[in-house]
Amino acid sequence: MNVARYFDEMSYAPAPESDSEARAWLKRHAEGFHHVIGGALVPPTDGARFDSVAPATGEVLARIAQGDAATVAAAVAAARKAQAPWFKLGGHGRARHLYALARAVQRHARLLAVVEALDNGKPIRETRDIDVPLVARHFYHHAGWAQLQEREFPDHGPVGVIGQIIPWNFPLLMLAWKIAPALALGNTVVLKPAEFTSLTALLFAEIAADAGLPPGVLNIVTGDGATGAALVAHPDVDKIAFTGSTEVGRMIRAATAGSGKSLTLELGGKSPFIVFDDADLDGAVEGVVDAIWFNQGQVCCAGSRLLVQESVAPVFLDKLKRRMATLRVGHPLDKTMDLGAIVAPVQLERIQRLVAIGVAEGAALHQADVELPQTGCFYPPTLLSGVQPSATVACEEIFGPVVVSMTFRTPDEAVALANNSRYGLAASVWSETIGLALDIAPKLQVGVVWINATNLFDAAVGFGGCRESGFGREGGREGVLEYLKPKAWAGRKPRVVAAPPTARRVEQRFATPALDRTAKLFIGGKQARPDGNHSRPVLSPKGVPLGEVGEGNRKDIRNAVAAARAADGWSRATAHNRAQILYYLAENLSARADEFAARIAAMTDAPPAKALAEVEAAVARLFSYGAWADKYEGVVHTPPLRGVALALNEPIGVVGIVCPDEAPLLAFISLVAPAIAMGNRVVVTPSERHPLAATDFYQVMETSDLPAGVVNIVTGASADLAKTLAEHDDVDALWVFNSAEVSAMAERLSVGNLKRTLVDNGLLTDWHDPAAAEGRIFLPHAVQVKNVWIPYGE
Ligand code: NAI
Ligand code: MG
Repeated sequence: MNVARYFDEMSYAPAPESDSEARAWLKRHAEGFHHVIGGALVPPTDGARFDSVAPATGEVLARIAQGDAATVAAAVAAARKAQAPWFKLGGHGRARHLYALARAVQRHARLLAVVEALDNGKPIRETRDIDVPLVARHFYHHAGWAQLQEREFPDHGPVGVIGQIIPWNFPLLMLAWKIAPALALGNTVVLKPAEFTSLTALLFAEIAADAGLPPGVLNIVTGDGATGAALVAHPDVDKIAFTGSTEVGRMIRAATAGSGKSLTLELGGKSPFIVFDDADLDGAVEGVVDAIWFNQGQVCCAGSRLLVQESVAPVFLDKLKRRMATLRVGHPLDKTMDLGAIVAPVQLERIQRLVAIGVAEGAALHQADVELPQTGCFYPPTLLSGVQPSATVACEEIFGPVVVSMTFRTPDEAVALANNSRYGLAASVWSETIGLALDIAPKLQVGVVWINATNLFDAAVGFGGCRESGFGREGGREGVLEYLKPKAWAGRKPRVVAAPPTARRVEQRFATPALDRTAKLFIGGKQARPDGNHSRPVLSPKGVPLGEVGEGNRKDIRNAVAAARAADGWSRATAHNRAQILYYLAENLSARADEFAARIAAMTDAPPAKALAEVEAAVARLFSYGAWADKYEGVVHTPPLRGVALALNEPIGVVGIVCPDEAPLLAFISLVAPAIAMGNRVVVTPSERHPLAATDFYQVMETSDLPAGVVNIVTGASADLAKTLAEHDDVDALWVFNSAEVSAMAERLSVGNLKRTLVDNGLLTDWHDPAAAEGRIFLPHAVQVKNVWIPYGE
């Protein structure tokens, strides 16, 4: 044996990371782990526990407590008790705690990295160099938000008690992403780790207690999906934050509908990885390695759909196959391994099953000829090429080390293929032509785009998706807002609804009658007769008939949504252009102020001065959103790498809006204006009882250069129309300012395409108060933030 031989062979020797400290910690808990509630270790009800297994070997590492509804209730009570004193500590006090957590994570970095690798099966190189450092970074960053809270968010307060449910793919990192912002801003937490990977959460709870985190601020209840469901169902939880499968995300959306709980969902993905013919192909090959073989491909934003420009596809796939042969798969604690184990047998079987389906549906299978350990859950790096866009493996999230490849010819085709997915989480774009890459990024329907890079994360840069990848963002200022609620909305009282008037017979006289004017619907820029050819009377509060409006139905809503969908030019119009049109609407409304005031007075019995004040407020509101249109912009992040991340405020798409009866003109304008200012197209159902101000507004729109289809109005029964909007898969977001019942129904029926919802739960907004009804309180709901990462340098 001589040194020269090593140089010849260049083979790897095992380089195991020591697990003795981790073993000692596990041994201290050999009798079984407990829940962590109110600072105490709480044993499971009836001693119920389940195994946590090392997927690389099948060894049972620990016994984990199974939480039930009673355990969850105790944890929620502890969190509730701790919430007020935790918030009262103040921003600086909480900042010191989060800073202490960041430092504690760094002090225990090695132990955390080893326990994570053992329990999850991911390689130590990743837990040591990626997971744990990002965890520390998250606590540092959010210590900063705590420090700045009082000055940066004076109009907001904490949400309260947060229930958080996390998956097994990044157990400690997802814990940090969830609890750091929640705790920083004065909320308290009940966290349920995934049943496969509870250990680092329990270790973290010990570390946090040692670091002085007060009891009850962070409670950990371990268990399975039933435990998670109990947390979701608990009435004293103010918000649920979930990361996991789209299937469970849907169940949680349905379960929380109408409860008043706020919700963020970070769900699955099938993210495109687009390689143009002018890309640095070797760089892009390394990109694919990071995109799909990082964490064995068990990554929600994994670049699992490889789209390669046809002219370079053979060369590129060839290079990729050669690179695959050099990947090493083996024991997670071996520092030379690129891939570790799949989390559990059930996940391994899912991967095997989906790959078999891919092959049966015609894909060519290439697996790296790598040595796999004899036992444990291992799967080789896999490429399925020649995949049809409609194939199962091109549509379903495999959540394993399997990339599927397809080809495209033109940039437009690449965009179409990339967006041909139910999901919308992330995308990676590879081209040396910066103009091309930056042209593609805004066209991708996703929350994150990496240019010539992949799987970059930072606490300052928001992460999250759209469509069936969920809603809400983690990280950045937008992530902070998810854990705050506006003070102006906190004190809203239930809306009081007067009984509907009964129509009075109006005494007939010999006089020239007014011209009959039945307001139609407004769809695609035209006044349209309702599909059913029915109309409904509009009565004053005393029952005097004021006119009639069209009785819209499902078909009318569908036509309106189609018109809004087609008006996508508005979403690409410049902000300046949108601003001009909002000012023009204001000008034309102002010119007819007296007429609108008379209409409001007749419909609501408001005194003339009050009716005029509503019109003036509506004019001012249009002006405000004209002002905001080119000012609610994104930010440029400078995360710790050479490069920038552009946080762009993009329109959501088609927004359904259900208006209340109060302030029939001002509420209508207050809801429509922010949506269109940010480039959305809307389908609105105006006040059911007092719709005539909205129907009079048709003429204002017709004279203000508003492009056809940007604002579509369907009058009729709010609840019925809201139902169709909620069920419609081409509606991207739904705002309901109406009854508690309509709010609940809208949330429940939004599960189809997981549209974003904003509902008032029947609580009355003061539309005349700009703090409650204008500007920064609405604008975040009118945009979705897309973060475009642009690393630079050679
Ligand atoms: P899952 O969605 O069932 O599990 C995620 C978390 O939700 C776990 O903590 C689980 O205990 C909890 N949970 C399960 N049912 C629940 C319910 N009814 N109410 C509340 N909480 C509940 O995901 P699972 O079963 O571990 O994996 C299945 C598939 O989901 C994977 O193959 C993968 O495709 C996908 N997945 C996606 C993730 C992502 O980050 N996008 C993460 C984990 C899984
Ligand atoms: Mg495990």
